Amino acid sequence: MIQYIMKGGNPLVGDVSIGGAKNAALGILAAAIMTDEPVTIGNLPNVRDTNVMLDAIKGIGGIVERINEHSVRIIGRTINTVSVQYESIRRIRASYYLLGALLGKYKEALVALPGGCNIGTRPIDQHLKGFTALGGVNHIEKGAVAVRANKLRGNHIFLDVISVGATINIMLAAVLAEGRTIIENVAKEPHVVDVANMLNSMGANIKGAGTDVIRINGVERLHGTEYFIIPDQIEAGTFMMAAAVTKGDVMVRNVIPKHLEAISAKLLEMGCEVVEFDDALRVVGKPRMRHTQVKTLPYPGFPTDMQPQMAVALALAEGTSIVTESIFENRFKYVDELSRMGASIKVEGNVAVIDGIRCFNGAHVSAPDLRAGAALVIAGLAADDYTVVDDIEYIQRGYENFDLKLQSLGAMIEQVTDERGVQKFKLRVG
Ligand code: UD1
Repeated sequence: MIQYIMKGGNPLVGDVSIGGAKNAALGILAAAIMTDEPVTIGNLPNVRDTNVMLDAIKGIGGIVERINEHSVRIIGRTINTVSVQYESIRRIRASYYLLGALLGKYKEALVALPGGCNIGTRPIDQHLKGFTALGGVNHIEKGAVAVRANKLRGNHIFLDVISVGATINIMLAAVLAEGRTIIENVAKEPHVVDVANMLNSMGANIKGAGTDVIRINGVERLHGTEYFIIPDQIEAGTFMMAAAVTKGDVMVRNVIPKHLEAISAKLLEMGCEVVEFDDALRVVGKPRMRHTQVKTLPYPGFPTDMQPQMAVALALAEGTSIVTESIFENRFKYVDELSRMGASIKVEGNVAVIDGIRCFNGAHVSAPDLRAGAALVIAGLAADDYTVVDDIEYIQRGYENFDLKLQSLGAMIEQVTDERGVQKFKLRVG
């Protein structure tokens, strides 16, 4: 098992550079197979989720050439099946983007989805509603979703819930549909806009991405492109929170400050200093942060993917804070782990009431998922004594070189694989 061992107490100080947006990358990689011409993608984060998507593309016959660590060339001409293998698909949820991409290009797709429980808690009914409106016929067969259409025709679609995945997936299918598609009540996240920009650079005709209504005029075919992915809003936010929690002073570089406004606003409310530059944000922590209230909402609201990191900051803020999770029901799974580090948090339904303490105690904890895992690492960096975080494979799904970036800011953290590694680290840092 791979773990992070860390010793808290060092304020994070220095510069950190943010990589490409994982969630944009997943949509963009799927979009890249929609043309027979080569597509070059830059600023691609080298994380597990994007690598699984690349494997899935190879699995259906696409060509993936690594140009360097953060650039790939994809050729969709050689795709020889619209059936995406179960094994690769099971590992990331966003493989559902291959449904929209294959349906758009070949008018047919068969994509296996994660187990029933996942489907139950994170349904894809809005994706399927969109495909049906475009003329697709969906059915579930042997744990996979099959979608077929004789012809895709543009339509007027109103989403019942604001869904990033459904917005991108329907957009993917609709760009090659005949006629005009209007999608209302869409997600406005920066990665929705990035996928739309990328598709437009391939010859698609999408307008309105970033607003509540997206209008698409279908085109006959897409062509090759070279595209550079936007910076990752959540990786940036995580480092901003790490700076605040460790009372540090970090320049978070290569970001789009506009995408981080909801996070900056909360840090300012809590008494931290946030200074905005063209493509960087400097966050300076304060000896004691103030309590506040946070509710997760679709963009431009406070992102659900920053909720656990924010809760860690609030667990150290003076007074009582309230965190309301309004996007996913089951997103407080990390609270038990954080409580073992001394946090005082009560969860009632989708609300967490947090009484701030002065300092976490180091403990042995497990990452329950990607963002909660990152949050526990931040907590460990602010804890007295040692913290070990298990199951860091989750964290590596979405953070590239997380430990190395934190080390470069002065954190005492290391990836280890066994108790010997833990003991060696302890001997070394004292
Ligand atoms: C994406 C992000 C994820 C982020 C989430 C919310 C990717 C790969 N993942 O996930 O990191 O936490 O957005 O910002 O980009 N819903 C339905 N029916 C549907 C689709 C969604 O009811 O067909 C519900 C979900 O259960 C959830 C809400 O809509 O309550 C938002 O989900 P959605 O935006 O679709 O999340 P994902 O795209 O899966």
